[in-house]
Formats: sequence, C-alpha cells, structure tokens
Amino acid sequence: MSKKVFVTHQLPGERIHQLAELCDLNLWMGPGLLSAESLREELRDCHGLLCLLTDRVDAALLAEAGQLEFISSMSVGVDHIDLAAAGRRGIAVGNTPGVLVDTTADTAFALLLAAARRVSEADRFVRQGNWRQENAWAPDFFTGKDVSGATLGIVGLGAIGRAVAKRAQGFGMEVLGWSRSGREVAGVAGVSLDELLLRSDFVSVHTALNAQTRHMINAERIATMKPGAVLVNAARGGIVDEVALAAALVRGDLYAAGIDVFEREPIAADNPLLHLPNVVLTPHIGSATAHTRARMADLAVDNIIAALDGQPMPNCVNPDVY
Ligand code: DGY
Repeated sequence: MSKKVFVTHQLPGERIHQLAELCDLNLWMGPGLLSAESLREELRDCHGLLCLLTDRVDAALLAEAGQLEFISSMSVGVDHIDLAAAGRRGIAVGNTPGVLVDTTADTAFALLLAAARRVSEADRFVRQGNWRQENAWAPDFFTGKDVSGATLGIVGLGAIGRAVAKRAQGFGMEVLGWSRSGREVAGVAGVSLDELLLRSDFVSVHTALNAQTRHMINAERIATMKPGAVLVNAARGGIVDEVALAAALVRGDLYAAGIDVFEREPIAADNPLLHLPNVVLTPHIGSATAHTRARMADLAVDNIIAALDGQPMPNCVNPDVY
C-alpha cells in the first residue's frame, strides 16, 4: 500500500510531478489558505508532510498525526516546526539549504542599500507628487549614508552571512563577523558580538531563530550599537525586538532599518515599524526569485522521495532520528 503524503501548497519546480507516481499524494488546492484546522484534519492518516514556513507544526498537531513519519519544509528555516516534539516521535524533518543563499544575500544587501540611500522614501516622494519645482534638487536633498568604505557587522556566519560578506567586500566595506561557533571566514574580522555592535555602521542579522537567538537584538544590545547605524534583518523576525528597534529609530539612535521578516507574519497592523519613514519593509521575500523557489521546491520533494524510499533525507535537520 502506498504511503500518504500531504502537500500544503501548489509547488513550482520539476520534481513535484514525480511524487504522484510514488505515493498517495494529496495536494491542498484550496479553497482559500490552508487553516490550522484543515492541516490537522489532513494529517490524521498521513505518513508524510511537505509544508511551507507558514504552516505551524507544533507538538499538539504532531500528537494528532499518529502516522506521520517525515516532514519536509520548503524552507531553510525550520522554526515553524517543533523539532523536539518531532524528534521524540522519530519524525525526520528536512529542509532546503544552499539553493537560496545568494538570492537571500541579495535581498539583505538590497535592504541595506535601500535603507542607507532612502530608496523607498524617495520613491514615495516621487509617486506622491512631491517632486516639484520648489524642491527639485538641493545640496541636502535626500542625502543618505555612505555604504562604500563603511563597516558592516554580520551576525551569524553561516552560508547566507558569508555571501553577504562577499557582497560587502565588493562595495569596499570593512567586514566584521560574529558567530556562536567562532567560525573564521577569510576577509571577515571575527569579533565578539559586543564589539561588532559597537563598531558597525551597518549590522545584518543572519542567524537561525531558536531559543538562544530569540530577541538576541534587544533593547540593551540596540543601545550599544554605533549611533546612526543601520540594522538589516532578512533572517527571522523573532531575532530582533521590533518594539525596541522602533523606539531606537524614533529617538534617532539608529539611522534606518531594512526589515524583511517580522515577529508576526503577515505584519500586525499595529507594528510600530509601519509608521517610520526610515524603515524599508518587505514581506519575507528573501528567497523570492522564480528560479530559487523552483530549486527549493525540488529539494523539498527530493527529501520526500528519499523518505518514501526508506532512505535518510538528503537535507535532514534532525538526522539522529535515523
Ligand atoms: C527560508 O527558507 O527559511 C526563508 O526564510 C525563505 O525565504
């Protein structure tokens, strides 16, 4: 009897078409978005799940999915899955690292440049009809902050952090880096987190979200950042305390921020960052190119295909279950 696999969204890529031949495939086609209740219903008799980072897979859900053997998420981050609960149940969890590194680093650097040079603010100014004869150009017109020659501090020197470092080197930036493991990276001066925050004109966050990194960039740490610095976060929302960040921006302690990820997604209507002109906001699009998303989908399907075959997933975040 073939195994039952539930896929929570239609996927791009080539490999998804193979799955139907290898298992009893159930692909969520709507109507509407998949609710937590529908996910629970669908998983009751499933052996496998292919999900997105928007699908919350918590201990309660896993407890009701008694047959579940493997989960593959089309994402590199797996903070939406209770890994401890999955591990206790012997459920292997896969992810899609590697293929999104450059795309996500590009997004982080785009946010850095946009925040430094006030791109969103200037775009709004033009669209809103404010660019008129009386304020056509002036020496201080939309002046921003230099990127070339400035110091960038990278928090987290995994693959994406290292790819951001490469981009920064191309811009003639001095690059400082910190990682929990003390990883050494060519061209990146390894420093303590305190020193990085103190010395950097730009800080870009690239750690995973977990119990150790939740609110790692909190009010106390923000207070130690170099006055007039810019903060970029294209990793996970929970790493930065958004309320503390907004307060520092309002006070003028920080110059600007570029933020792609939020504690609550979609962003809460009362998020204080929404009202600040010097914050560039994007809706979690770090890996959003058609090519990269197709490659992520293919990796996610490859994890499922291996699991159906009784093999370890090629990209498994909890290999100790095997
Ligand atoms: C991931 O895969 O975790 C990214 O956040 C997607 O952009």
